[in-house]
Amino acid sequence: MLRSYRRFKKPLLRLAHPARPYIAIITVWLAGASLAIAQNPPPPAAPLSNLQTLGQRIFQDRNLSEPPGTACINCHSPNNGFASNNGSRIGVPFGSRAGAVGTRNAMTNAYGAFVPTFSFRLKDGDTDPVGGHFWDGRADTLALQALGPFLNSAEMNNPSSAAVVKKIAASNYANLMRAEFGATIFSDPNLAFQKLGVAIAAFESSAQLQPFSSKFDAFVQGKTALTATESRGMKLFQDPLRANCASCHTMNPASRNPQDSLFADFAFYATGIPRNDSIPANANPAHFDLGLCGPDRTRPALGANVPADVSIEKFCGTFRMVTLRNVAERQAYMHNGVFKNLRQVVSFYATRNSDPKRWYGPAGVPNDLPAAYLNNILNDRPPFNRPKSAGPALNEAEIDDVVAFLKTLSDGYTQTAAVPAPPPLAPPSNVLRSPF
Ligand code: HEC
Ligand code: HEC
Repeated sequence: MLRSYRRFKKPLLRLAHPARPYIAIITVWLAGASLAIAQNPPPPAAPLSNLQTLGQRIFQDRNLSEPPGTACINCHSPNNGFASNNGSRIGVPFGSRAGAVGTRNAMTNAYGAFVPTFSFRLKDGDTDPVGGHFWDGRADTLALQALGPFLNSAEMNNPSSAAVVKKIAASNYANLMRAEFGATIFSDPNLAFQKLGVAIAAFESSAQLQPFSSKFDAFVQGKTALTATESRGMKLFQDPLRANCASCHTMNPASRNPQDSLFADFAFYATGIPRNDSIPANANPAHFDLGLCGPDRTRPALGANVPADVSIEKFCGTFRMVTLRNVAERQAYMHNGVFKNLRQVVSFYATRNSDPKRWYGPAGVPNDLPAAYLNNILNDRPPFNRPKSAGPALNEAEIDDVVAFLKTLSDGYTQTAAVPAPPPLAPPSNVLRSPF
């Protein structure tokens, strides 16, 4: 079942991509897939508005990097759950400049329209940071977020906003920009640059990036049933005494409205993710990514609602969770991309406390935070509150069940008849491996 929707989904999405060497193979594959679509056509996607179309053109334009070649879509490909690492297999993306490698895993930008603005939340006696874009919540809106990658030397590496605007003025969609923002928009590069963010945010808020078309969505609407393993996985995912995933990755299967199941409440936690030694910056043992405490942002001011005894230090090492929709399609997991598949992720949640040496090496102590912040790591709720002697929170079969459930969250589900398997994609261009 899962395979059949993927076969239908991938060719459709690949049409949006510029030509690639294996386009010929895809064309043959498309011919097969179109038969299946004809048998059971999916509902047509809502058409994009002019502003959204402009945003899409910018999002896909590989000319907007220095040197050219890296568009937003290189790191946010629909084929990888809108989070991909531009050919890198070390968990963090390659930039457009030769040798440029980032320090954080690409984040999905699908369902980004549901990420709230940054604030501190008081709930059940806990104070937690919530919302904002990026793993550290530093951008307030999608429109502001979108301007960052153009100028980031590890991403699209443009020398200035004016240089980006100049490329758009010379593009074959410059007329769309003028139609939306006025005939003279390019004579004010600062304003034009801000408007790029507006257009991209409009595209990112379109139904293309939040289609709510997964098997899970079909299930809550009574259109399909879960398999036994998916169903067991969902129970464990929700069980507050077992995996307890849904306490953070929120869902409500009793609601037929898929927006009630975003699989994230977008709060920040330090969960003790192991260090990714493949990140070049981590060659320096003194380098730590502290999320909310930088180095990619300045520490936020505590909100007026935050109790006086809570200091910002308590949040150093916390990162914002992401939606688990389309999670099975991603290439790497967690802010540092240390995990490369879902089984590793779920095994980590299940055995972080029972088998710390598996994750942190012989010392068995969380190794990606300075000692001063180790106490910030979450220990007070399942699956993280178990003494070592209690053993894993989930056994191996239960881990498989949770993984099976997570795979129901991929968009593009359809119950069409089987069609031939897709050809393998181009081989990875990087051979460095993760330690797990
Ligand atoms: C070279 C890879 C790369 C490119 C190119 C890139 N991104 Fe990203 N994107 C990332 C990484 C890495 C993060 C997380 C960065 C962080 O947290 O500091 C991210 C985060 C995001 C987020 C935040 C999602 C969330 O839930 O908060 C959005 C939205 C996004 N990118 C959109 C874009 C847009 C729009 C473009 C093009 C203008 C773009 N990206 C270009 C790698 C990339
Ligand atoms: C206390 C809240 C909390 C609980 C409980 C929790 N998570 Fe998470 N999850 C997070 C946070 C925070 C992150 C981001 C952590 C980071 O990258 O540093 C995350 C990240 C993830 C990711 C990586 C997504 C990506 O795109 O990189 C997956 C997959 C995931 N969680 C699955 C699960 C599963 C499965 C469970 C239950 C076994 C679970 N989570 C329980 C908070 C939680």
